[in-house]
Amino acid sequence: AEDGYDLWLRYKPLASAEPLPRAIVAQDNTPTVKAAVAELQRGLSGLSGRRISVAKNVSAPSVVLTRLTTPEAGLGNEGYMIREGRQNGQPVVRIRANSDIGLLYGAFAYLRRIQTGATTDTTDAPKVRLRLLNHWDNLDGTVERGYAGASLWDWWRLPDLQDPRYTDYARANASIGINGTVLNNVNAKAASLTAPYLDKAAVLADTFRPYGIRIYLSARFSAPIELGGLKTADPLDPAVRAWWKAKADEIYAKIPDFGGFLVKANSEGQPGPQDYGRTHEDGANMLAEALGNRGVVMWRAFVYKAEVADDRHKQAYSEFKPHDGQFAPNVLVQVKNGAIDFQPREPFHPLFGAMPKTPLMMEFQITKEYLGFATHLAYLGQYYEETLRADTFQNGQTGWSVARVVEGEHHALSGMAGVANIGTDRNWSGSHFDQANWYAFGRLAWNPQGSAHDIATEWAKMTFTPDPRFVTPVVALMMRSRETVADYMTPLGLHHLMDTGHHYGPGPWVDNLGRPDWNPVYYHKADDKGIGFDRTRTGSDALSQYDLQAQKFWADPKSMDERYLLWFHHLSWDYKTRSGRPLWDELVLTYDKGAKEAAAMQQTWAEMKPYVDAERFKAIASTLRIQAREAKWWRDASIAYFQSKSGRPLPAGVAAPE
Ligand code: GCU
Repeated sequence: AEDGYDLWLRYKPLASAEPLPRAIVAQDNTPTVKAAVAELQRGLSGLSGRRISVAKNVSAPSVVLTRLTTPEAGLGNEGYMIREGRQNGQPVVRIRANSDIGLLYGAFAYLRRIQTGATTDTTDAPKVRLRLLNHWDNLDGTVERGYAGASLWDWWRLPDLQDPRYTDYARANASIGINGTVLNNVNAKAASLTAPYLDKAAVLADTFRPYGIRIYLSARFSAPIELGGLKTADPLDPAVRAWWKAKADEIYAKIPDFGGFLVKANSEGQPGPQDYGRTHEDGANMLAEALGNRGVVMWRAFVYKAEVADDRHKQAYSEFKPHDGQFAPNVLVQVKNGAIDFQPREPFHPLFGAMPKTPLMMEFQITKEYLGFATHLAYLGQYYEETLRADTFQNGQTGWSVARVVEGEHHALSGMAGVANIGTDRNWSGSHFDQANWYAFGRLAWNPQGSAHDIATEWAKMTFTPDPRFVTPVVALMMRSRETVADYMTPLGLHHLMDTGHHYGPGPWVDNLGRPDWNPVYYHKADDKGIGFDRTRTGSDALSQYDLQAQKFWADPKSMDERYLLWFHHLSWDYKTRSGRPLWDELVLTYDKGAKEAAAMQQTWAEMKPYVDAERFKAIASTLRIQAREAKWWRDASIAYFQSKSGRPLPAGVAAPE
């Protein structure tokens, strides 16, 4: 059935008569080489419609996997080289790498190149060391912000039941270069660190290991109290330090290649070092010491608290920037793409470029908490690219894109994390197009300077068909889709307007939550005179956290990209926008445009019918129908609400909200 389970690894027969290899030749049989051979066999037999044999020597057109005896420096531990040549009078494709995992990545790359019509010869290596999924999965099987069914981890039946789906999960991730996964929610339960759960996690680690994927756990900072019976979790207390060291030793006895800890501390009510008057680095460095050179600590910079009355936008920077250079060598600070919370559009986080002495790990959200869950189509590759390409002007120098900061050229460690959008749904991601966001995340983690357009093209070819009559319009639709969502939800730099708790649907009017910084009205500040959040010197001055040159992107409403306008400026309804129209008219027209574009996506998709199987065609058509309806809901509700503030008439030709 075309239910999407195969993701981009469908391997359907190719229309082109390109002769494909008939055999796979590999020297040895390690678990990883076996995985590479199995994938090539599966892929090539699917694509060619012929049986593919596995041989020790070349006696037919073959793919030859070779681990290099003299290491090739440029390839590192995970890179590969693919070259066409001849051997024993036969055409061969040679995949070479310094390591087994490089061979596996090379095998996936070769299959991808066949499917996307790229030339065979290539050399490639990842630019980022840690390429991780973060699962916000709870031990009870629910997934925080998960819209694709339940958690994949069947804690109840583990460690005995080893679901074959775990292997498919590993294949899919390895195919895009993901090399680690954090199994549990950042809002962690201490129980995940107990022996029974470690035994279960060890089975997952064993399954993922041949695919180059290490497992990591979110650690609850107060675990020494909850599990160890200690009176404190103070990171400077010797008993606490000893507890974590013993815990790390226990983990490594079960999972020798355990990757390390992800920690959410002193954020949204989670325990942390500040509970004891200590700093983030006190906490992070204590865990880093417990792991030693066996693993890393990913310490999250997503911190904000009610007691700080200042603009939430500024809190992470204020807490972390002064501590640059004080983290242990095996600590990375994990920073969300923007300073608020995965909004449909955010300027890059001011910490990027501001902590040159600390490896900063990017945290993107793949699951679409604020972009319509798995129901609305929004291709996030375009969003990730926008963030990664922004110039931070680190050390006052131009050319320090966020991508370059993340690649961390001066650091031994670098990383990118994506909050996973996958679960037990048959199609993994809740909707077919959301698979593309998983795919794009992996490809950009491998190469943060990659092109979102190229990645969407690859994905569309592999997942559906290489037929340009499909690929061209669908990629165009994907590339536009996230702008469309931003237009009908949060145009012109507005943000955090989603309804309370679930974050689905409009709630710009909400003003009664316990904490001001949870209320949408705190973010748009609309009244009868104007709208927007002044983050310049006359307001919260969050803008000053950026380098002077980066500030120029947003300092002047007249010259800036208006898609960020109300993120940084509070302006009068009559303010004249670049179009010449008053701000009020521009706002309404942008909402209207977003809703219209969402409706038009259905038409584009309808034209794709000849190129798509009926099952996926219908499933996608149905979610696009929901999206169009809900885009109108967003448009109508938002225009009506903001009109109650502005008191102005709608611009000519715009339909009144229903
Ligand atoms: C968001 C999200 C929470 C999550 C938090 C985090 O606020 O709504 O569910 O726990 O981010 O990233 O820690």
